[in-house]
Amino acid sequence: MPNLVDFESIKNKTVILRLDLNVPIENGKIINDFRLRKSLETIRALRLVGNKLIILSHLGRPEEGTIDESLSLEPIYAYLAKNLDEDIKFEREWLANLRDTIPTITLCENTRFLSGEKSNDEGLSRKISELGDIFVFDAFGVAHRKEASTYGVSNYIDYSAGPLLISEIKNAQKLLKNFSKPLCTIVSGAKISTKLTLLNTFLEKSDHVILGGGILNTFLEAQGYNIGTSLCEPSFLDESKKILNSENCKKIVFPDDVVCAEDGVLENPQTKDISMVKSDDKILDVGVDSISKYTKILRVCQTIFWNGPLGYVEKAPYDKGTSEIAKIIANADCFSAIGGGDTVPVIEKLGLNDQFSFLSTGGGALMKFFEGSNMPILSKLGLDNK
Ligand code: 3PG
Repeated sequence: MPNLVDFESIKNKTVILRLDLNVPIENGKIINDFRLRKSLETIRALRLVGNKLIILSHLGRPEEGTIDESLSLEPIYAYLAKNLDEDIKFEREWLANLRDTIPTITLCENTRFLSGEKSNDEGLSRKISELGDIFVFDAFGVAHRKEASTYGVSNYIDYSAGPLLISEIKNAQKLLKNFSKPLCTIVSGAKISTKLTLLNTFLEKSDHVILGGGILNTFLEAQGYNIGTSLCEPSFLDESKKILNSENCKKIVFPDDVVCAEDGVLENPQTKDISMVKSDDKILDVGVDSISKYTKILRVCQTIFWNGPLGYVEKAPYDKGTSEIAKIIANADCFSAIGGGDTVPVIEKLGLNDQFSFLSTGGGALMKFFEGSNMPILSKLGLDNK
């Protein structure tokens, strides 16, 4: 029966190391390497004590059992080869080829090219487990998936949580249970539907909640404001009204002004009081008065959790609300955490990453963790949120 093993005790072994190297790649170029930089730390730690590494990761969502060259881990291999001080081999036919001689470090081709990966197939899980002595799971971003390389392998060989995973859980737990008050949470994104549980969880815990994006617009519409052609989720208007009628509503800090693409024209940004938005305007950011209102609150908070950029950060000047708030938080003397895939790249672009207490590598996985969802590999590792 496989056992849970302490990471520090893993020395001179052949380690099957599951990382989350699923990063944005455009035309073969890595757009954001945050997850890769964090994973390099685990690779180095395991190599320092004589382990051989068989590194597994998925990239994107290829059709099961088919090889999609656009989702090959080749660019990731080039990145690791450049950033590691020792040789690394890229193996496409890794299940067949890694049986006899195991190189010091091998990066295996996309696990999702294999039939049985997504369905956590027993046969595939067993075959993968036979390649090494121990399974190290250090892929927080994919901890909510029960796949052969994220879970199944642990049924056949000893397993351990990697340091990145442990740090992610420690920080996520701090946000859930051990935070200092006042707590301000910023929840933004296109759809309420994807963040409703997160929103409700943090409305309970927080002293202040700032909303952004389609989530904010839906709440504005639910209050009877004209939001023009802004992103909104009409099927969640009733849910928003329920929150607006609850005790927790007073914790929500609504903006006073917003920046619209007037008449829907991106080149024509106009700052408007929220009561002045016209039917063909599109809300794409918060205005300066709102930024100063938020700033006053953020400055006195002991804990800030930020999930989702506040505006349309892809195009200036609609990125202003997000970058101003990022600078305020970066300079605040508090525990500041960023979660969710699309906020970290913004913080990195501003060069502020070192000024935040914690940047999570998890997107959907962090949401699931906060929601208290069943995350099988975390339960097995004794790290779930139960
Ligand atoms: C992510 O980017 O959120 C993780 O790598 C998980 O990817 P998935 O949603 O395709 O499983």
